[in-house]
Amino acid sequence: MKGNIVSMGAVTCSMFFILFIQVLDLQSQKTAPKTELDKKVEAFLEDYEGKWRDMNVPASDGKLLYDIILKNGYTKGLEIGTSTGHSAIWIAWAFSKTGGKLITIDIDETRHKQALANLKEAGLLDYVDARLADAHELVKELNVTFDFVFSDADKGWYINYFKDVAPKLESGGCFTVHNVRPKGTGQRGMRGTREYLEYVLGLDTFTTTVDNSGGGLAISYKN
Ligand SMILES: C[S@@+](CC[C@H](N)C(=O)[O-])C[C@H]1O[C@@H](n2cnc3c(N)ncnc32)[C@H](O)[C@@H]1O
Repeated sequence: MKGNIVSMGAVTCSMFFILFIQVLDLQSQKTAPKTELDKKVEAFLEDYEGKWRDMNVPASDGKLLYDIILKNGYTKGLEIGTSTGHSAIWIAWAFSKTGGKLITIDIDETRHKQALANLKEAGLLDYVDARLADAHELVKELNVTFDFVFSDADKGWYINYFKDVAPKLESGGCFTVHNVRPKGTGQRGMRGTREYLEYVLGLDTFTTTVDNSGGGLAISYKN
C-alpha cells in the first residue's frame, strides 16, 4: 500500500515536471530572439502593409500559412499562384526557420518578376524557387514530393491541381486552398471553390477544415 502511494506520488511529480518543461518550451518559442532576417522580413511586411494590389492574400492568411508550416515543421513546399509574392513571403519566412524551400509558380511574367524583386527585398530569395510557367502543365511534371501546398491560382482548376499533387504529398502533409467558403457562412466562395470543397470533404484519405477568419482557407491534412 505504502509502495503504491510512493509510486503514485512519483508519477504525479513526473507529470508535473513534463508539463513544466512543455510550458517553458512554449515560452521560449514565444520569446525566441529575433534574427536579422526576422527584422528584415517584418520591416518589409510593415512597409507593404495595405499596399498589396495583385489578388494577394490578406496578412492574416499569410500568418495562418506561416503557423501551419512551423507547427508541423514542414520543409517541402509548393505554391500554385505566386502573383507578386505576398503569400510566398510568409511561406518562405517559415521555411527560413524549418530549413525548407518553396517552389512557387505563376504564368504572368510581370507578376513573377515583381515577386522575385519582393522576395529579394525581404531577404528570402534563398528559400524560394520561383518558376514562370503554366501550372496546369508544370504541376504534373514536378517529380518531387511535398509536405506543404498552397493552391491560389485559377479556381476552376482547383480539383485538377489537387488530383495532380495529392499523390506527391507526403503522409501527414497539408494541402491548403484559398478563397474557399463553406456553406452556411453567408459568404460566397469564388467560382469553382465550392466544388473543390465538396470534392475534398468527400475524401477519406484527407481531413479537411476551413479557416474563415480571412479570405477562407481550406486546410486538408493527408491521413
Ligand atoms: C490570387 S493570385 C495569387 C496571390 C498570391 N498567392 C499572393 O497571395 O500573393 C493568382 C495568381 O495565379 C496565377 N495563375 C492563374 N492561372 C495560372 C496558371 N494556369 N498557371 C500559373 N499561374 C496561374 C495568376 O497569374 C495570378 O498571379
